[in-house]
Amino acid sequence: MRMVDIIEKKRNGEELTKEEIRFFVQGYTEGSIPDYQVSSLMMAIYFQDMNDRERADLTMAMVESGDQIDLSGIEGVKVDKHSTGGVGDTTTLSLAAMVAACGVPVAKMSGRGLGHTGGTIDKLEAIEGFHVELTTEQFMKQVNDIGTAVIGQSGNLTPADKKLYALRDVTGTVPSIPLIASSIMSKKIAAGADAIVLDVKTGDGAFMKTFEDAESLAHAMVQIGNNVGRNTMAIISDMSQPLGFAIGNALEVKEAIDTLKGQGPEDLMELCYTLGSQMVVLGGKATTIEEARKKLQEVIANGQALEVFKKFIEAQGGDASVVENPALLPQAKYQIELPARSSGYVAQIEADDVGVAAMLLGAGRATKESTIDLSVGLVLRKKVGDRVEEGESLVTIHTNTEDINEIKEKLYQHIVISSEKVEAPTLIKQVITK
Ligand code: URA
Ligand code: CA
Repeated sequence: MRMVDIIEKKRNGEELTKEEIRFFVQGYTEGSIPDYQVSSLMMAIYFQDMNDRERADLTMAMVESGDQIDLSGIEGVKVDKHSTGGVGDTTTLSLAAMVAACGVPVAKMSGRGLGHTGGTIDKLEAIEGFHVELTTEQFMKQVNDIGTAVIGQSGNLTPADKKLYALRDVTGTVPSIPLIASSIMSKKIAAGADAIVLDVKTGDGAFMKTFEDAESLAHAMVQIGNNVGRNTMAIISDMSQPLGFAIGNALEVKEAIDTLKGQGPEDLMELCYTLGSQMVVLGGKATTIEEARKKLQEVIANGQALEVFKKFIEAQGGDASVVENPALLPQAKYQIELPARSSGYVAQIEADDVGVAAMLLGAGRATKESTIDLSVGLVLRKKVGDRVEEGESLVTIHTNTEDINEIKEKLYQHIVISSEKVEAPTLIKQVITK
């Protein structure tokens, strides 16, 4: 087989065979096919697309390029959740405990944050002592005993995706539905999920800015998952404003604890119930979405979800007393309010720019090497649609320096107040099942 023939075939709009797809994925991973040929093929795919069969074959070729986590030692259907990334997305922290409390094992492999979106591991590390360095045996045992565990990205998972993503990043070929969908799905499948619930975000803080793009990606991923034997569904949710109130690591842990006590922000609670009920159904612990939602409401009301969270923190070395006493979490030196400059209705809280403001305070990484300050961040006092009076606080800024004028101006610029009444955006925009 010759790479040039594969490139020409795709350039001409023809379908690639499974063997051709495996050939270039393997060859590129091993280093026998050079960057310039693969970038040419990526561009051909960008323009010519791939059909459902090619997308499934590309996904599995990437899965097979490296290690695959074998979770068969964990009893039950392992359901994983994936979010395409957002600002202040505290969901995973609460959701894992909620779903586990309903009897569905949640074995999570998570990452750190980069840029204006946070990572689950960084957030959890705001809890004194918490760590993710578990052996595979410890990880599986913990999921069997407690219902959930979080481990850092370990092993050589999907090396083909790592190389391809880096190449796409510098060759103008990231925004291609078949390439994005196979990239995301390959990582979930290699991490051992039997069933997958996807939260595809849309809006200015999301990777997919428009609803149409989010919808195409969601459909593509649901199709791939089901074509390769993983029960997969997706929701499309709003990321035009940050999720919940808190943005920042320790602040989001506190928000997750509030949520597990049934006192979280309305949008965050709703997203947890929506995603959670799908996970409970896929995990076989309820037959209908309504029944699953009732179960989730029960484990919140009777404290079982919070109990799972405590055990999970303890099992991974963390100080579980933060659950009763969130003041034990890292605290920033100053809490500075941002008073509204005019009265009206909050029309926009631009998620990406507000996320960047939190990053500039130190809550996020500008580059992979940056260190982050777990204590700092933002707590929104208002959400889109809320009435605000001049002088009332829009945001509480948790900071370790008083020199934050630039950040305040950035926030003023991206929190828009209108004199006319504004509707709150719909949180759950669509549910996509096979
Ligand atoms: N996120 C991924 O993991 N892969 C892509 O291709 C794009 C976004
Ligand atoms: Ca939040």
